[in-house]
Amino acid sequence: MDYDFSNKVVLVTGASVGIGESTALLFAKLGAKLSLVGRNEANLRAVAAECEKQKGVKPLAIFADLGTDEGIHKTAKETLEHFKRLDVLVNNAAIGARTSILHETDMKIFDDVFRIDVRGVYLLTKLLVPALIEAKGNIINISSISATVVAVGSLPYGMAKAALDHFTRLVSLELAPKGVRVNSVSPGITVSNFVKRITGSTDEQYKSWLGEVSKQIPLGEPCVGDDIARMVVHIASEHSRLVTGTVVEVDGALRFNTASSSHLVSQQIKH
Ligand SMILES: NC(=O)c1ccc[n+]([C@@H]2O[C@H](COP(=O)([O-])OP(=O)(O)OC[C@H]3O[C@@H](n4cnc5c(N)ncnc54)[C@H](OP(=O)(O)O)[C@@H]3O)[C@@H](O)[C@H]2O)c1
Repeated sequence: MDYDFSNKVVLVTGASVGIGESTALLFAKLGAKLSLVGRNEANLRAVAAECEKQKGVKPLAIFADLGTDEGIHKTAKETLEHFKRLDVLVNNAAIGARTSILHETDMKIFDDVFRIDVRGVYLLTKLLVPALIEAKGNIINISSISATVVAVGSLPYGMAKAALDHFTRLVSLELAPKGVRVNSVSPGITVSNFVKRITGSTDEQYKSWLGEVSKQIPLGEPCVGDDIARMVVHIASEHSRLVTGTVVEVDGALRFNTASSSHLVSQQIKH
């Protein structure tokens, strides 16, 4: 099977690092014109430069905070002004948290997670849907197996990803008659800075946690960004032309080992 995205415009949020970076690079290798969004300017510029090296197509780098309406409007406006169309929207940017209902925290974590992981996706999608309808394009929301795995410590992130998956289903039905597909790709443990950002753990501590968690993954290893990127590209491509409203897990079956993975998440709550 071949994948060709030349002449397709693909917007990837959270492209400055991690899964978003891998996704941007893979789309660049397949010839896509890219609109890349992040907050860390140095990282985003570096990813854009690496993408340009693949096929010589210069990406548009947008520095924006998707936790603000201003940043979201800027992202939609700059993308459409620059490319005049949009074929694929990858809603990847998100933040996580490790808290519980018994944990003494204020509502800031809840508000931040829902503002970026749910509200940000909702508004950006809303603004870009007319362009996606015009292009008969598609949307991929990057979710998490935390949406269904019940683990102490996953509040409120797991709730936010569950909301995102239902957003995928609801919008897929609404947009199907318009020829726009909408799907979630749901990673399990994926090597990136995500967990370190949430927990504040050192490289050493993260490595040791990754070693422990890997023992609970039925296929024996965590994902890397490319594993997720390859599924995103497959679902975004014509090879998936009748796939919509789905949530596709890429997790080595970790979601079936709920008791042990719950223990490894709850260990990370900061007290
Ligand atoms: N890693 C995992 O184990 C895992 C598992 C399941 C699901 N996921 C999901 O996979 C996606 C990517 O995660 P990752 O592991 O690649 O995490 P990461 O390394 O922490 O990267 C997160 C990306 O999101 C961007 N971002 C966060 N908040 C933003 C905001 N307010 N405005 C603009 N950009 C923002 C970051 O940009 P800056 O750095 O430029 O701020 C960064 O590019 C997320 O949706 C996450 O929930 C990850």
